[in-house]
Amino acid sequence: MSVQPTVDFSPLELPKSGTLVILAGAEGQLAASVPSEISGAVEKAIAIGKFKGRSLSSVEAVAPGASALERIVVIGTVGEQPFGEEDWLKLGGTIAGGAKGSGPVTVWADGAATEASARDVATIGLGILLRSYKFDRYKSRKAKPGEEADAGDEARAYTIATGAADAAKAEYAAAREIAEGVILARDLVNEPTNVLTTTEYASRIEALSSLGLEIEILDEARMAELKMHALLGVAQGSPMPPRLVIMRWNGGAEGQAPVAFVGKGVVFDTGGVSIKPAAGMDEMKGDMGGSAAVVGLMRALAGRKAKVNAIGVVGLVENSVDGNAQRPGDIVTAMSGTTIEVLNTDAEGRLVLADALWYTQERFKPQFMIDLATLTGAIIVALGNHHAGLFSNSDELSERLTQAGLDTGEKVWRMPLGKEYDKQIEGKFADIKNIGNGRSGGSITAAQFLQRFVNDVPWAHLDVAGTAMGSPANEYNQSWASGYGVRLLNKLVEDHYETR
Ligand code: BES
Ligand code: MN
Ligand code: ZN
Repeated sequence: MSVQPTVDFSPLELPKSGTLVILAGAEGQLAASVPSEISGAVEKAIAIGKFKGRSLSSVEAVAPGASALERIVVIGTVGEQPFGEEDWLKLGGTIAGGAKGSGPVTVWADGAATEASARDVATIGLGILLRSYKFDRYKSRKAKPGEEADAGDEARAYTIATGAADAAKAEYAAAREIAEGVILARDLVNEPTNVLTTTEYASRIEALSSLGLEIEILDEARMAELKMHALLGVAQGSPMPPRLVIMRWNGGAEGQAPVAFVGKGVVFDTGGVSIKPAAGMDEMKGDMGGSAAVVGLMRALAGRKAKVNAIGVVGLVENSVDGNAQRPGDIVTAMSGTTIEVLNTDAEGRLVLADALWYTQERFKPQFMIDLATLTGAIIVALGNHHAGLFSNSDELSERLTQAGLDTGEKVWRMPLGKEYDKQIEGKFADIKNIGNGRSGGSITAAQFLQRFVNDVPWAHLDVAGTAMGSPANEYNQSWASGYGVRLLNKLVEDHYETR
């Protein structure tokens, strides 16, 4: 949204101007490559500041008179754990967040204690891009250059100096595409619903065909033919027509079963007739955060030409309320044939996903299916904003997701499924009902509901209500919408499902 900075790579050469960022190890130890012209000044600052090199802590050195550098900033890299992927990302974010004025920034990406691979160096660049993101499309007063609160409005030039500039450049080409995916997801979630209607959303996805994604859009009539009445029931109270959008990326071996990602795309959730309270209802413009992660992921996979066959399916509806809206007590028949008593029209995400999951599984026979949804307020009560809830019928998929979460910082926490919970959604007048008994275990009964629409395929459900939006700002995200899920699932695909 905001003007993106430029990130370039160079050999380890002292810049002529601007800010220089240097990494330090334990007790402020510097890499041997730090040029002698500046190392004296840096060591002095480290000594005076009693700088210990603690991860992401920093100290500023006075640039020696002979150099034209404006600032020298030393950043520590020593934590309890070895410096990992998320740390490199945070480092990039910290550098972009600390940049002052409008001059160029050079990062001396040669750690003392910390070996920086080409990938690590590229991840610094990713952190810079993600930190610089700002959703200011609707601010009429654009910031003046150099204003602190508006850092990022200038297309600042970053150069990362490294012993392996060419390899880093190649890695960064992929990192850039991942950033584009995250930024796309953030933009979609941040957009208000009067702009991002179901149809506008579908056209924005359609525009991704320029990257080689195959896009198919199912309209209301087609969904009615397919008997997707769980999804259609949610949409019927809104003047916005529903859409089911299918994205395909064929980067893997021909004939190889795809991996599939399914997203809840409720462009606004009023609750329907079971209407939500007014306070904070504006945040329900982000109730399509699961789908945005799927779209951003598909954008990233296509952009970096991932060697995988991947499917993204998103159900786009508005859960609104008018005379035609579905009522509590209505019974709908899902595409699978399962009948559902809609006892609370605010439990709409699971109704949308019921048909989207069934359709994906039946049509594509995927290797696995992962859905993402801002599904329940209860998951925020359980896990807060720092883990998504993970529900799965597969230990292998769960372990892989958990590890990818630890690596990327997009963490998941596994929650239980089980017969006892499943019992709670048995229907009185139909096969199942769309809520459990009372409020207890609300995220689990929601997941049990979804599982009714999954056969034997390995499946995972990520409840991202607490992570897709409104999570606290951090080193690499300052935006209300985080883009959660794009990096997590990109990592999962990269580590386990790409042909080499
Ligand atoms: N979209 C909401 C869940 C949500 C709440 C997301 C807060 C983000 C922040 C979902 O559709 C919903 O309303 N769930 C209900 C389910 C209940 C009626 C069983 C909830 O969580 O209260
Ligand atoms: Mn709802
Ligand atoms: Zn919802």
